[in-house]
Amino acid sequence: MTEPSWEHVDAYFESHLLLPDPVLDACLRASAEAHLPSIQVSPSQGKLLHLLARAIGACRILEVGTLGGYSTIWLARALPEGGRLISLELDPKHAEVARTNIARAGLDARVEIRVGRAIDSLPKLAAQGAGPFDLVFVDADKPSTRAYFEWARRLSRPGALIVVDNVVRKGELANAASTDANVRGMREFVESLASAKGVSATGIQTVGTKGYDGFLLAWVEEGVGQAGASQPAPTKRPAGRRAR
Ligand code: SAH
Ligand code: DHB
Ligand code: MG
Repeated sequence: MTEPSWEHVDAYFESHLLLPDPVLDACLRASAEAHLPSIQVSPSQGKLLHLLARAIGACRILEVGTLGGYSTIWLARALPEGGRLISLELDPKHAEVARTNIARAGLDARVEIRVGRAIDSLPKLAAQGAGPFDLVFVDADKPSTRAYFEWARRLSRPGALIVVDNVVRKGELANAASTDANVRGMREFVESLASAKGVSATGIQTVGTKGYDGFLLAWVEEGVGQAGASQPAPTKRPAGRRAR
């Protein structure tokens, strides 16, 4: 199987399962015009993130790695009234493009972009009592993935979902001899999960317009004592009902 057919299938899914979306088209156009790298999730992957967020009823979402806000828009659109998304981005230019794209999408009241190194922003979030988050999407500099995941866990509620992009890297993930810092970072991350308590994870290989790569999905187990969890899980009940 060759790469063009992966792209044909992505195009086929997009044409039948994704509605025309002028706001997302404008986001990609503005990002390209600003010379941002075209490394955002694919449309089908963006919709997967959206569906996951909807399926778990995510009210608080954290993203690490904003770029032009493409995945941010997909995720933020899944939020209910009053829901919030915080996205962390190193590059002020990326953040500026993203803010414009997010405002065009009408999502600026729900989305906050924090500029800086994620490894600095994450402890600040914890210190500020941000979260606990229901869903975290980790998609920034790959060598730091393990550290971002550990922060994501600390900032997540039991039952949260953590999604990590770009774990497979054309299959290099399975190459123990790889000297690529991105691959080594992902191997270190995956191997750290082998002994991690309180998370249940799986890796899903993907092909498509972004080539051969993959996601890792981790569920933060409920009912497992979690060191570092700063707040209990939010208790959500239908309006008008009381706990007994
Ligand atoms: N999630 C985006 C793509 C993100 S690309 C989407 O799918 O639409 C990765 C982003 O991470 C880039 O914008 C890059 O500037 C940012 N990044 C790189 N190193 C970072 C760091 N140390 N802290 C925060 N963001 C970082
Ligand atoms: C790169 C980063 C990504 O997040 C991605 O999805 C694809 C490529 C990169 O830095 O090359
Ligand atoms: Mg990515």
